[in-house]
Order: sequence, then C-alpha cells, then structure tokens
Amino acid sequence: MKPYSDLIEQALAVRAFAYAPYSSYVVGAALRASDGRTFTGANVENAVYGLALCAERAAVLAAVNAGARAFEAIAIATASSPPAAPCGACRQVLAEFAEDMAIVLTNEQGERRDLRLSELLPSAFRAKDIGKK
Ligand code: THU
Repeated sequence: MKPYSDLIEQALAVRAFAYAPYSSYVVGAALRASDGRTFTGANVENAVYGLALCAERAAVLAAVNAGARAFEAIAIATASSPPAAPCGACRQVLAEFAEDMAIVLTNEQGERRDLRLSELLPSAFRAKDIGKK
C-alpha cells in the first residue's frame, strides 16, 4: 500500500476552496493520474441544493479537462470521523475512468482508511455493458 502522503495533504488543503454555505460540510479531493499528475477538487454548492457538485467529481472534471483519463488513486478529506467514503454518484464517475483504484479516506484529525474502488462499487456499470470499448 503506497503512502500517498502528498495526495492526503492536497486533499486536506483544497478544502479551503470549497463553497459549502448551505451544508457547511467541506470536502476536498486529490486525484493522482496514471501519468503522475495530480488534480484537486472541492465541493461547490448552489442555492438550488440539488445542483451541489461533490469534490471528487470536481477533481475528475479538472483531470479530464487537462487530458488525463486514467487514474491510480484519490484521497478524500472531510471532517467526518471515521473518514467518510465517496457518494454513489462519485463512485460511478470514478469507475468510468478506472477499472480499480486506491481510495484513501482521511479527515482533519489525521485518521485514515484505505480502500479500493472495486470494494466500494462492485459490478460497476461500464461502457462495455452498452457495447462500447
Ligand atoms: N459531498 C462531497 O463533496 N463528496 C461526497 O462524496 C459526499 C458529499 C458534498 C456535497 C455537498 O456539498 C456536501 O458534501 C454535503 O452533502
């Protein structure tokens, strides 16, 4: 298991840019692309509550918009104890770009839990299911 200490640091740091005036629940994500680059994201809420964008998906969008489409790991930082796991929608979006990947959950207290995407979303719906790729 890799330490991914830099990813954890970046996930914690990017929480400062979250826009979460409605829930006050601040999330940061740092995504390691297979080419070594790192992309970060924080959650962005809206007065139309249902339009909130999760930190994990913000990081995926940043990566894909910079040409990265293969991912090795993501660190996710919240204030929850134990550290919270990504929502179902974010698991599905990650699964679009990674057969499996390391997921490192962390929080302000420095707690850590290491998982794999395949554990969080077994039998993911994939492009092959609709005859693509
Ligand atoms: N949130 C994330 O950013 N990631 C998750 O995996 C779960 C929830 C955000 C969405 C919303 O801004 C706030 O946390 C409360 O649900």
